[in-house]
Amino acid sequence: MFDLPEEILVCLDELSETYGVGKNVSKNYSELSENYRNKSFKELNFPQAIAYAQGRMPATYSVIKYVLERFKNIGKNFSNILDVGAGVGALKIALRDCEVNYEAVEKSEAMRKVFRKLNGEDVKICSDDFRKFCCKNRYEAVFASYFVNEIKDKKSVLKKIFALAEKYVFILEPGTPNGYKNILEAKNLATELGWYPLLPCATQSCKLLEKDWCHFSIRLARTRRHASLKNATLRYEDEKFCYVIFSKKETKFENNNTIIKKPIKKSGHIIFDVCTGNGIQRVVRTDKASKKLQWGDQL
Ligand SMILES: C[S@@+](CC[C@H](N)C(=O)[O-])C[C@H]1O[C@@H](n2cnc3c(N)ncnc32)[C@H](O)[C@@H]1O
Repeated sequence: MFDLPEEILVCLDELSETYGVGKNVSKNYSELSENYRNKSFKELNFPQAIAYAQGRMPATYSVIKYVLERFKNIGKNFSNILDVGAGVGALKIALRDCEVNYEAVEKSEAMRKVFRKLNGEDVKICSDDFRKFCCKNRYEAVFASYFVNEIKDKKSVLKKIFALAEKYVFILEPGTPNGYKNILEAKNLATELGWYPLLPCATQSCKLLEKDWCHFSIRLARTRRHASLKNATLRYEDEKFCYVIFSKKETKFENNNTIIKKPIKKSGHIIFDVCTGNGIQRVVRTDKASKKLQWGDQL
């Protein structure tokens, strides 16, 4: 599990108390959820931005940490990054122990205000709409988490993301058929532009089409406030997500045996659904080492 650092949780509680959001916390969260459910993506006000930080950021933070860890595990890194649609700074928090030059673009004033409360005043955040963001620099990595699904003109925004990146592009999306559609759109464009998928697999044309969608899941703990915000009794939740990391260089490393479903554990054997370069295969394993393998790992 990747839980938000304690100082951030404390800071979030203080924000809620100071701005009186605590009393209306479920109401603010319901408004926020409605905003996402009906896909209106209206700009959030300050109480709703705090509700986002408390109700959604624990999940987006966990997903970001998971993806960064997968990237690190294959021996890759970057020294500077642009965070597009940074929200309240989940990526900034995830990178707090890394020596990385971080910059962000975030158009919502309320989100930027919460971002600064959590991460300090000295972070470089541009207030532009990303479509108008004008920048002469390029970044080793460009990161867009839970952003593309909010955008109407996806192709031109994705093109801009690739144009600003020198080495890596990260796209993280909700683990829904729509989120996956955005990942496929990014993959098609990447091929046109001469980029290569690196993770979760190195296959350019996805084998899971039509009925199914490639996604993963991560479990995270809910704090008391987080649970009460959602009127939930469970003290954990499972966040489903899709992601892709692209590399400008074709790599010899090949992720072509990705476990794409939760492994089915039986007595004496485990069943894995695996995406290979040649299609989806069902594999049965009986050895001890396979017991440790999880959804998203390489078989
Ligand atoms: C769902 S939030 C994701 C925030 C953060 N990346 C995360 O993973 O928690 C999407 C963010 O993108 C921002 N956004 C949407 N369209 C944008 C645009 N055209 N330019 C800049 N920011 C935008 C929204 O204001 C919002 O803060």
